[in-house]
Amino acid sequence: MRAAMASAEVDDDVLGNDPTAARLETKMARIMGKEAALFVPSGTMANLICVLTHCAIRGSEVILGDYSHIHIYENGGISTIGGVHPRTVKNNEDGTMDIDLIEAAIRDPAFEICYPTTRLICLENSHAHSGGRCISAEYTDKVGELAKKHGLKLHIDGARIFNASVALGVPVHRLVQAADSVTACLSKGLGAPVGTVIAGSKSFIAQAKILRKTLGGGMRQVGVLCAPALVALEENISKLEDDHQKAKILAEGLNKIKGLKVDMASVETNIVYFDILEGSNITETHLCKILEAHGVLAMPEGPLTMRLVVHHQISESDVQYTLSCIQKAVSGFLGENGGK
Ligand SMILES: Cc1ncc(COP(=O)(O)O)c(C=O)c1O
Repeated sequence: MRAAMASAEVDDDVLGNDPTAARLETKMARIMGKEAALFVPSGTMANLICVLTHCAIRGSEVILGDYSHIHIYENGGISTIGGVHPRTVKNNEDGTMDIDLIEAAIRDPAFEICYPTTRLICLENSHAHSGGRCISAEYTDKVGELAKKHGLKLHIDGARIFNASVALGVPVHRLVQAADSVTACLSKGLGAPVGTVIAGSKSFIAQAKILRKTLGGGMRQVGVLCAPALVALEENISKLEDDHQKAKILAEGLNKIKGLKVDMASVETNIVYFDILEGSNITETHLCKILEAHGVLAMPEGPLTMRLVVHHQISESDVQYTLSCIQKAVSGFLGENGGK
């Protein structure tokens, strides 16, 4: 990737002249089965641009999961920056929302004198907060049909859509067929240093491009970032299956450690959530600190819950090392500064 960055052909992308960005965008549009695509700096900006483009009229409301990344982890940007009102629907354990609950959340236009106007439904695939679980094409189609029936648009936060595609054995373009817009991060499991791509119709992407500039996401010689993203697409999609396998080994190992619990059904891709059982003499914050001192980065996800993520640079022996660190920490044999 570093070599690709060094030799990337570049030009001014704000003016639409960077050939490497154009190559990446054309390739991503094809992969996602949409007319056009746009490279942006992050998944957060990509979602913000998509929601704001669909909800350009003030007083718009978006229906999204109560545990969606857009709702919880993006600083409420759709509201604070975009003035878009969120209406949450409960996320099921598998990351879906019940279709009848989505339909019930759609505002009745007959009462627009009081209600905001529903304009958009958002899904997330894979669903991060559910442990990286995958949303099927059939479910997405049903939400797409519902959106159409009510004159709404459908956006998919596909930060990890390639993981979902590999885990389900369904091409990305099929998974997002019903969506009017989709985002895909190149910097997560695919391992590029920076960047997310938005895909949609030509007219949607033209509007999104203007908003990207407004938000400060228009970049000049951006080919240096698109070149490693192209390498990621060439070389790293095929590694995702291995990541999922390593996540399963990790989850099975965690389940064997007394005091920990993993819901194996939730481990469909590269994310592993585990619970520290009540009565254990360790907390998630303490465990994270001990692991960090031993070179393992984990994330606390709430009281007695932790998250681990596997990527292609984590080997199977790294997984075994992680398990032995966690085993020792939970048994009280591993302090922050020693006990390796
Ligand atoms: C599902 C999902 N969407 C969007 C994002 C935001 O991506 P970024 O960190 O590039 O802003 C993340 C980040 O973890 C995510 O998990």
